[in-house]
Amino acid sequence: MIQFRNFTAAFGERKILHELTLNLPANSITAVIGASGSGKTTLLRVLCRMNDRIENFRVEGTVLVDGVDIYRPDMDAYALRRKVGMVFQKPCVFPKSIFDNVVFGVGRKIPKKEHANLAEQVLREVFLWEEVKDRLGEKATTLSQGQQQRLTLARTLAVGPEVLLMDEPTSSLDPKSTAAVEKLVQSLKKRHTILWVTHQHEQAQSIADRVLAIEKGQILSLNNPRGQLPLASASHPE
Ligand SMILES: Nc1ncnc2c1ncn2[C@@H]1O[C@H](COP(=O)(O)OP(=O)(O)O)[C@@H](O)[C@H]1O
Ligand SMILES: [Mg+2]
Repeated sequence: MIQFRNFTAAFGERKILHELTLNLPANSITAVIGASGSGKTTLLRVLCRMNDRIENFRVEGTVLVDGVDIYRPDMDAYALRRKVGMVFQKPCVFPKSIFDNVVFGVGRKIPKKEHANLAEQVLREVFLWEEVKDRLGEKATTLSQGQQQRLTLARTLAVGPEVLLMDEPTSSLDPKSTAAVEKLVQSLKKRHTILWVTHQHEQAQSIADRVLAIEKGQILSLNNPRGQLPLASASHPE
């Protein structure tokens, strides 16, 4: 569960997100729509504290993930990013092998001898295993865009996050890869809370449990297929 309480994000004096109050329940897909520059990417980035290093970036109010205030002073940003994973608009693969990309974020918590099993498991999850199982040692940059996007998703899943943030993950993909990623996300929501930024309203309606529309950093509406939802009640009627 993600809870925004009177949450504002700003660069210096310029507020990008304005006093958002919003609940997003676990194990569901929320599509985030809105015009360019409305703050969609910022909304995702604040959830994994990706703007921490930007000098004039500041927040007011609170965001809770599983009841934990992620901006409290003693919060470990690295621990947060194991819990909240982000997939970007353009797949950013590292100049390493396919295998090394998949296990890149796994770290020492999982023994090295288990990495191969884990890699297979997440590559299967993103429907990429059959395509790459015979070339795991090749450079990830030799994959197609659609394959790279699924690879970055596999890399994120390998870390075991509860929340998945996806910023226009299909905007650079062909229809076949788009369909694959859409299908994949449906299966992932059983275990993950997903925020999916998209420009395609049809896609938002078909994949998501609810659609969050934002405009100029403010919430315009939160709807599920059956109508408008309250922004911050204890639970959402589904
Ligand atoms: N690092 C930054 N410094 C200053 N302004 C920024 C920065 N990143 C984003 N913005 C501004 O925040 C606003 C929202 O951007 P963004 O969240 O990327 O919108 P969207 O993803 O909806 O297109 C834009 O006006 C953008 O210029
Ligand atoms: Mg954006």
